[in-house]
Amino acid sequence: MTTTAIPISDPELAALLTQRLAGVETRLRDAVAHADPLADTASRHLVNAGGKRLRPLLTLLAAELGDGDRSEVVEAAVVVELTHLASLYHDDVMDSADVRRGAPAAHAVFGNSVAIMVGDLLFARAASTVAALGPEAVLIQARTFERLCLGQLHETVGPGEGEDPVAHYLQVLADKTASLLSTSARLGSMFAGCDARTVDTVAAYGERLGVAFQLADDVLDLASTGDESGKTPGTDLREKVPTMPVLLLRARVADGSADPADVALVELLDSDLSDDAALADAVAALRRHEVVAETRALAVRWARDAAGELDGLPAGPVIDALRSFAEALADRAA
Ligand code: IPE
Ligand code: IPE
Ligand code: MG
Ligand code: MG
Repeated sequence: MTTTAIPISDPELAALLTQRLAGVETRLRDAVAHADPLADTASRHLVNAGGKRLRPLLTLLAAELGDGDRSEVVEAAVVVELTHLASLYHDDVMDSADVRRGAPAAHAVFGNSVAIMVGDLLFARAASTVAALGPEAVLIQARTFERLCLGQLHETVGPGEGEDPVAHYLQVLADKTASLLSTSARLGSMFAGCDARTVDTVAAYGERLGVAFQLADDVLDLASTGDESGKTPGTDLREKVPTMPVLLLRARVADGSADPADVALVELLDSDLSDDAALADAVAALRRHEVVAETRALAVRWARDAAGELDGLPAGPVIDALRSFAEALADRAA
């Protein structure tokens, strides 16, 4: 595990974070251990498969705005990765995604029921870990978990009558993804003893960063290879899980004056894509469409807004690293 997920130009800061992240890894592995062999193996499955550890990195990095050496900072980093991990077990069941972190998804190995219960066990471990950080942290984690669940729920049920699908989806992204990135930055700075203004600022940064990150993820579902993303490209299209490029395309068709090619593409996307060749055609057709560039541009805008949140804080290597993280996320979709 390296710090490459966040490009850090200051070598001292990079070395420090790599070292702290190693401490998080050790604690994370302790935190998922179970005496029950099935619970233990299934809980370790996705921890061992890897992942970018973006959320704990953000916690550690934000903590460098204060005293990042405090043991509570490492515990907070463990809490956010446990919360994320748990959500991945459930998300792959919901999205029928068969590959995660370059490994078979947990439900593909252990079955849906075990994957769901192991997700719950991981949420329980996130809760017992955060308990040691005190009631304020417990409340923050609980509210984040609530937003994450509501985001997943609202994505599943879609917009209500008369609700704008794109606006609805941006709220889904904020809730299912940005909530935890925001909390990662908040807890790091909070437990490092930063003042309230700094804590709120990095939390606002994380909130916007999270939307940019998830928009980039929507593009990657179309534009990446499975080797790059560790996931199967086109999974969202196959399972009819909404993503921003598809919503933007549908919006063009809904306004009545659509290009017939757009209408045909929506029909293709609505058709049965269980066959691999049909899915590959749909991915290729959508990938070429302008709506992908529009989604990228949206990701760039949200990433810039995230960086803009930091304007009020004094410049330095940590702020620089947070800014380059936002830029890298926007590039990720490029
Ligand atoms: C995947 O998150 C779920 C999303 C919110 C897009 P990551 O892309 O951070 O996944 P890992 O932790 O690196 O596997
Ligand atoms: C994942 O969202 C968000 C959560 C797990 C809460 P997605 O379903 O869009 O993410 P991937 O593409 O499977 O990683
Ligand atoms: Mg998914
Ligand atoms: Mg999902």
